[in-house]
Amino acid sequence: MAGGAEKIDYVFKVVLIGDSAVGKSQILARFARNEFSLDSKATIGVEFQTRTLVISHKSVKAQIWDTAGQERYRAVTSAYYRGAVGALLVYDITKRQSFDHIPRWLEELRSHADKNIVIMLVGNKSDLEDQRQVSLDDAKEFAQKEGLFFLETSALESTNVEPAFMTVLTEIF
Ligand code: GTP
Ligand code: MG
Repeated sequence: MAGGAEKIDYVFKVVLIGDSAVGKSQILARFARNEFSLDSKATIGVEFQTRTLVISHKSVKAQIWDTAGQERYRAVTSAYYRGAVGALLVYDITKRQSFDHIPRWLEELRSHADKNIVIMLVGNKSDLEDQRQVSLDDAKEFAQKEGLFFLETSALESTNVEPAFMTVLTEIF
């Protein structure tokens, strides 16, 4: 808003989780700043970025938290999940292992976060179709079984990143 401070009606905390190198930080960079970097460094500790959006005529500040997929770089788990109303659970469609670890991430999420948290399963790197190791059907079936939203994204090509966050934010709202 020009001039004065912007008026915020709601602040929603959303967390990103998933194995290292699946693209969590680049999904966030794409959503918050419309940026992407191919030589992204592994996250150490916790970072967050915000973006303010208008949903149903209300000003919503999305506060997106990003942490390390690597255990040794992770910060205190309970603090990370505290107050989160949404989560993006990310795997890499070219790394089967990152999908096979999703049940563990989901378990961690469910044991630390609010029971009403809105969860979106995200298969990132959809631009690398020729290296695909996780089928759409496998992911859809898992999401349905666990009651999660699901989308495949490409932070590189900017595909579905906006809808992934918007679905979660709108559902929270
Ligand atoms: P940690 O911080 O270690 O947990 O990893 P991360 O999940 O944050 O991964 P990061 O965003 O740093 O991305 C890892 C690598 O994947 C980088 O080289 C990115 O450029 C690349 N990458 C991220 N998203 C995409 C994508 O959509 N497509 C392609 N082709 N590469 C991507
Ligand atoms: Mg990262």
